[in-house]
Amino acid sequence: MYCKSNNLKREIITTSDGSKTIFLSEWNEHYHSKHGAIQEAYHVFIQHGLYHFYHPKLDSESKHISILEVGFGTGLNAFITMLEAVKLGLNINYVGVEAFPIEMDEVLELNYPTQLSIEDKADVFRNLHETAWGLPHIISNNFKLTKRQLDFLKIKDINNYNLIYFDAFGARVQPELWTKSVFKKMYIALKINGVLVTYSAKGSVRRAMQEVGFKVEKCPGPPGKREMLKAIKC
Ligand SMILES: C[S@@+](CC[C@H](N)C(=O)[O-])C[C@H]1O[C@@H](n2cnc3c(N)ncnc32)[C@H](O)[C@@H]1O
Repeated sequence: MYCKSNNLKREIITTSDGSKTIFLSEWNEHYHSKHGAIQEAYHVFIQHGLYHFYHPKLDSESKHISILEVGFGTGLNAFITMLEAVKLGLNINYVGVEAFPIEMDEVLELNYPTQLSIEDKADVFRNLHETAWGLPHIISNNFKLTKRQLDFLKIKDINNYNLIYFDAFGARVQPELWTKSVFKKMYIALKINGVLVTYSAKGSVRRAMQEVGFKVEKCPGPPGKREMLKAIKC
């Protein structure tokens, strides 16, 4: 299927773990790792992001986690965060920023509920995309979603999030999104002890994060990638 929003053709392809993603041929860039979209999303954002805030004896306040996703895209990260939050008993306030929303035809073709063997949640995945932009929506009793159609460069939140999923396209194609000034915005948007996770492990990205005050850890990467980064606002 070919769609156009930011004047780039979007094509749905299958990655090595059998799950689908979107490919931008003009940029030779994927929305997720070609080595496994679902695997990568769980590894980077759930295992190294959400689980950073979880242990079995959390008090009720610590169960409330506020997440900013930079690049809502296919909604895969929001969907698996909601599923995991149910298992872990967490309450999530999720804000997804996206300039170029995908089309409903693409949502259906990506078909993540079937790929995750939870066909009974197909309506929920659809609902993540159908809800109006710019307003908070209760998707389930533990998951509130606000989608903001906005350029990343215009994010102006202050001290608002525990966790940022930084999932922009790579620095090769969008270098302007991996700069000190963007990471400064991310730093300001996080609460103290907040965490930003990203699939990237580039040295220049790590240094930009450190220069704005983050303590940066290298973590093992998902399949096909040696490392990824976790940045903490200490
Ligand atoms: C790597 S993909 C995101 C993948 C997404 N997290 C997912 O699971 O599908 C990057 C996303 O950032 C969006 N994007 C690119 N440049 C942007 C910008 N300047 N402002 C806001 N969104 C942008 C793209 O449309 C795309 O959806």
